[in-house]
Amino acid sequence: MFSFSGQTDFGGRRCVWVNGPVIVGAGPSGLAVSACLKEQGIPFVVIERSDCIASLWQKHTYDRLKLHLPKKFCQLPKQPFPEEYPEYPTKKQFISYLENYAQKFDIKPQFNECVQSAKYDEACHLWRVITVSTTGLVRLETEYICQMLVVATGENAEGVVPEIEGLKEFSGEVIHAKHYKSGEKHKGKKVLVVGCGNSGMEVSLDLSNHNAKPAMVVRSSVHVLPREIFGKSTFDLAMMLMKWLPLWLVDKLLLILAWFILGSTQKLGIKRPSLGPLQLKNHHGKTPVLDIGALERIRSGDITVVPGIKRFNSNSVELVNGDTLNIDSVVLATGYCSNVPYWLQVSKKDSISALFFGGKSKLNLFSETEFFAKNGFPKTPFPNGWKGKCGLYAAGFTRRGLAGASADAMKISQDIGKVWKEELNQKKQKVPTHRRCISTF
Ligand SMILES: Cc1cc2nc3c(=O)[nH]c(=O)nc-3n(C[C@H](O)[C@H](O)[C@H](O)COP(=O)(O)OP(=O)(O)OC[C@H]3O[C@@H](n4cnc5c(N)ncnc54)[C@H](O)[C@@H]3O)c2cc1C
Ligand SMILES: NC(=O)c1ccc[n+]([C@@H]2O[C@H](COP(=O)([O-])OP(=O)(O)OC[C@H]3O[C@@H](n4cnc5c(N)ncnc54)[C@H](OP(=O)(O)O)[C@@H]3O)[C@@H](O)[C@H]2O)c1
Repeated sequence: MFSFSGQTDFGGRRCVWVNGPVIVGAGPSGLAVSACLKEQGIPFVVIERSDCIASLWQKHTYDRLKLHLPKKFCQLPKQPFPEEYPEYPTKKQFISYLENYAQKFDIKPQFNECVQSAKYDEACHLWRVITVSTTGLVRLETEYICQMLVVATGENAEGVVPEIEGLKEFSGEVIHAKHYKSGEKHKGKKVLVVGCGNSGMEVSLDLSNHNAKPAMVVRSSVHVLPREIFGKSTFDLAMMLMKWLPLWLVDKLLLILAWFILGSTQKLGIKRPSLGPLQLKNHHGKTPVLDIGALERIRSGDITVVPGIKRFNSNSVELVNGDTLNIDSVVLATGYCSNVPYWLQVSKKDSISALFFGGKSKLNLFSETEFFAKNGFPKTPFPNGWKGKCGLYAAGFTRRGLAGASADAMKISQDIGKVWKEELNQKKQKVPTHRRCISTF
């Protein structure tokens, strides 16, 4: 599949020539690309920073999580979900599906290797991907050299931790939603949940299920839709209507139906944005919340809705409306971001920007590449954001969840397949330039 050159450079870095693409990330997107390549007999290497596939799902999601779209929209190419799976598979079922998927297509990632940088070498027309081992005390570096690079590190690679005044002085526990597992240990406690996206709503619901007292911060506005309308998935219904009607009209219909089923969210302290849910998703990437019971708990008073935060004190939080709440702990359901600008360096322009990682605010050299914007998403809008130049591809950055990841994977693998066949034909005729280049290491 790939050959270890057995060579190390002067800094002790191992060099590996990869015959075929390097895929960064063994989440659903990376696995889907791998499976489609495998079917065409194209070799590849998958690099994963964690010690397992789908680490977001296995390590950074709460216990009660279920897929929030029907299974037909969440399956990866070439392998449907088992028939006995429910319409909305649980996290455990989804992980089991992905493990079977990896096994079926014989996908064996290089685990515990985090990509630190990937740079296109114009002289050799090759990608140089440098990884650092994430286990052990000794820093082990490997340089993978390849002609094609598939970025599959996800839209949710890092948890966003906002800087809020006084947060460091707060004496209780503060965690990001990616570390929240269950409300079990919060029984009887007052927990501030910051954020009202799908994570904030579901964490609040889970806390309430475990007899904790959640207060959920809603600082701006959000669309909440029922997960199902008259027994049909809201997403499915929206997809169907979009075939015949303009987006704004589908939005209007969805909002009327949502009002009919859920009542006014405004009365519960949750304002709706002025743009409709689908238009907002399309233009600003903001996902509507699919309600699975949190609204009912808000209505019953089990979950309190509070406005934005002014500052934290040692054991309380001051809100923008002047109220102060005593709280025991904080869950930051404040979203996620891509980490591509941290390591991909096809830079035309470099700029300095701030990002917040692991609870710390750092100033970093933050590359804007020709293909990826500063926010770590492809600049070219959907449906054309999957392919860059010089053999660069992006899988899973469409803001369309697992369905988007699958669509990307199929396009990418077809394109790589075409290039691969052309290369094979050329190789039969002449010695490729990259071979000459490699031999100089
Ligand atoms: C709580 C939660 C629930 C969700 N539920 C749904 C849902 O129901 N339906 C849906 O369609 N979508 C859902 N999503 C969106 C979700 O991101 C996608 O479904 C899916 O996980 C995307 O797959 P991916 O492979 O693109 O990214 P990920 O699953 O994030 O996988 C990326 C992989 O890349 C690895 N990686 C990152 N950086 C590096 C690096 N530098 N070096 C090496 N490896 C690296 C990560 O460790 C990870 O394993 C949910 C997201 C969250 C946070
Ligand atoms: N069951 C499921 O399938 C499921 C469950 C959870 C998540 N997901 C998916 O995972 C992705 C991420 O969802 P998410 O809910 O984690 O993130 P998100 O949708 O980005 O929501 C982040 C929330 O945090 C708020 N926020 C950020 N900074 C804040 C601050 N300083 N003070 C107050 N509020 C602040 C935002 O408010 P503003 O809007 O005002 O910025 C927003 O409400 C989405 O695609 C989602 O659909 C799916």
